[in-house]
Formats: sequence, C-alpha cells, structure tokens
Amino acid sequence: ARAAENGPEPTLHTQQAYDPINSDFHARWTRADARQIMRTQNDPNVAPGENSMPASVTMPEIPKDFPIMTDEVWVWDTWSLTDEYSNQVSYKGWDVIFSLVAPRSIPFDERHWSARIGFFYRHSNADPNTEWIYGGHLFEDNTSVSNTEWSGSARLMQGNKVRVFYTATTFGTPRPGTEGKPAVLATVEGQIKATKAGVTFSKFDDHKTILEPDGKWYQTKEQNEYFAFRDPFTFEDPYNPGTTYMLFEGTGGGVPGDPETLITEADLGYREGDPYAETVEEVNGMGTFWQRGNIGLAVATDKKLTEWKMLPPILTAYGVNDQTERPQMIIKDGKYYLFTISHQFTYAAGLRGPDGVYGFVGDGIRSDFQPMNLSGLVLGSPTDLNLPADRPEAPQPGQNPRQFQAYSHYVQPDGLVQSFIDNVDGRRGGTLSPTVKINYSGATSEVDYSFGDNGLGPYAYLPTNKQKTGVTYV
Ligand code: FRU
Repeated sequence: ARAAENGPEPTLHTQQAYDPINSDFHARWTRADARQIMRTQNDPNVAPGENSMPASVTMPEIPKDFPIMTDEVWVWDTWSLTDEYSNQVSYKGWDVIFSLVAPRSIPFDERHWSARIGFFYRHSNADPNTEWIYGGHLFEDNTSVSNTEWSGSARLMQGNKVRVFYTATTFGTPRPGTEGKPAVLATVEGQIKATKAGVTFSKFDDHKTILEPDGKWYQTKEQNEYFAFRDPFTFEDPYNPGTTYMLFEGTGGGVPGDPETLITEADLGYREGDPYAETVEEVNGMGTFWQRGNIGLAVATDKKLTEWKMLPPILTAYGVNDQTERPQMIIKDGKYYLFTISHQFTYAAGLRGPDGVYGFVGDGIRSDFQPMNLSGLVLGSPTDLNLPADRPEAPQPGQNPRQFQAYSHYVQPDGLVQSFIDNVDGRRGGTLSPTVKINYSGATSEVDYSFGDNGLGPYAYLPTNKQKTGVTYV
C-alpha cells in the first residue's frame, strides 16, 4: 500500500472580517490549502478508477438511466427566484427557476455559444417528482445586451417586479445594435404574472450593462483570452441590512507572465520552515501565473440596483485555479459561507482536485476566509484523484465514469445542493441532477446520506422556503 501523500500544512487563516467596501483585503485560497486535497482527502490505494475521496465530500452516484426535464432544450446552470437573503420565494403558489438553455439540436459541448436564459415553473409544495413546466426563453429575442446570455440570478422585488442579473457574452458576429463586448454583467427589470394556468414574464425595461472588467482587479479579454467575468449573485447581509452586494466570477487583472501577475509567497501560503514548501521560482517556472481565478465584489449605489460600484476581489486563487465560478454567499448563525464551483482541468500545475463545490468560511463578507475541510473541497463528483485530470468532453478510459456526472452546483437553503447532469458513464445530461444535501457549520461539511435514497434526493428538487408575503412555511 502506498502511503497517503505527505504534504504541507495548510495556511493559517483567521476568518477575521474586514470592511467590505473600504478595505482591499482579500483572502487567498493558497497552494498550501489546495494541496490538502491530496494530503488529506485522497486514498492512494483505491483500485484505479474507483472514487478516491472520502464519502463525506463525494456526491452520490447518479444512475445512468436518469430522466430528462424536456427534450426541447439542454438545461444546465440553474438558479431560483429569490429574495435578498437567498430564500427561494414562492409567487402566488408557483415555484420558479431559471436555467441556461440551448436547443437539443446543437451538440451538448457547443451549447455555451448559443446559451439563453429559460425558465420553468411548477406548483409550490407539489410532490417533488412533479415535472417542471418549461416556460421558454425569459427575454424576447434580440433584446439582451449581447448575443449570448450566461448565468446570473433573479430577485423578486416590490409587488410583481423581478430584477434579473446576468452575464452578456459575445461569440461570433455581434448582434447588430449591440456593442459586442466579450463579457459584461447586465441587469433588467420585468414583471412576473401568475395565473391558474401558469407563470409568464413580460414588460422588461431596457437591459443595462452594469459592470465590465477594469484590467486591474479583473482581467480583460485583451489581457488573456481565457479571462472570466461572469455569474452575478446579489445578496444583503442580515446582520447589516440595507446594502446590496454582488459577487461574481473574475480572473485577476494583467497579462499572464507580466510582473504583477507572478505568483507570490502569500499565494503559496506555506508556513515557516515547512519541508514540503515550494519556492516562488519553481511555481512561476511551471506557468501557474495563468491560473488567476478570483471572486469579485460590487456594491449597489441606488435602490433600484441599477448602479454599481466595483470593489476589489474578496478571494483569489492565484497559482491555484483559473475558475471560481457561480460564487454565492450564504450567511447563517453569524458565519459567512462563500461557495463556488470549479473544475479539475482548471487547477494549476502540481495541484489536483475534482469537479464540484468548494467552500470557505469567515466572519464577514470580506474576511480571511478559511477553506472548509482544510482544502476547500465540499462536494466532488466521484473521481480517482490518483489519475491525471480530464475534461468532460474527453474523459480518459479507466477513470471513474462519474467524474463529470454533475456540475454547476448551487447551494440552496437548508444545505440542499442542485446541479446539472453532464456526463454519466458516456451519457450526456443537459438536465438537472438529483438534489443532494450537505450539512455544514464552521469550517466543516459532510454529505447527508440520510437524505433521499442514500443521499440522492429527487431530481431537480428546488423547493421554495418562503412565500411572497414573507411567511416561511417550510
Ligand atoms: C458554469 C459556467 C458559468 C457560465 C456558464 C456558461 O457552468 O461556466 O460560469 O455562466 O457556465 O455556460
């Protein structure tokens, strides 16, 4: 038997809070932290292709005969209609969710370039196995800021008003009349209407660009064609209400390899004298300055949430991982939980981890976040981490056939986690996964195997936990 990988001690993180608006402090998910995956969450002795991670952080296996929600469109990144505290709000007896969609006639791996936001609804409190009704595209054709709509979030505001935040990306020829920017964050307000027959949206006002990368805190496409700037998520802090914040996925500004992008001692995060420490020369020599994922912050400066001020990132993964996607902040019991999703193929050289959810906890919106479970890994698809990293469109034979079973996880109230099915043993999904549940508090989490069928709950289970009136009934 091989010994578990020896490795460094994790970085010391205090969880201390800093002023979200006036401080430029950011937490670092360091190489020392990410190396805790192979040091503490990988079994080097599994038969090749088995899951090598502990059950506590492994998403249970999705059966290959999974049902699909609709044969009209591929369905992937999904979010609920929420209030400012991420409660999932029932509107006049209906539950509503939003998903990226693309026609099933397009190959699954080409869906991103044709993505639109679609919506589904079903009766609140329906049997969890009730099918969602597909409502079609949220916006009329040729009305959004660019030709492709990527992930975002949707807030129920006063009365029947819904404010949508989304990413507008451009692929191919820009749509006439649009600026054709590579990626901006945008917003628009419309109205939701519910009748006995179902839910519709209408009366969207002018779509407005609210943020674009500045090249300093957040990378532009000119600086790096693999830049990221997307996935707006808004929230208020229940302990300091009245201010609306936004998280988003970014990559740190600069042209990779330029001096300001080089990985520093602080990004490595090793403790004094750690025998497993790497040097900055070694790490930069491996080209890890290409991996510049960060989580951005902005604050609304008007009540309508149409004016925003960009702030420095709250978390960086420089030299660690290139994508910290769909960030969310969940605030409970006095703690601030920052969740994000990431892939195996976006890790920097010398690091290894699964596709899935990563979590961090601190004492405020901007804090010295501590990676949960030492490494940050909270929920991964079953993977043999002893084998090299793969991509969902080209998995290597011999790897666990469920290493890409699910992605784009979104943490709902009560630890319910939804995601979409990507690749289960060669069958592509494009539909929502069975919901699973994690129990978490402080810096630890574990999958709840008492939920559903050995940890697998109903497919596409996104229950509302609040009515429009503000009465919580679940
Ligand atoms: C996550 C993601 C998002 C993006 C979308 C595009 O699955 O990469 O960051 O908005 O997919 O399809």
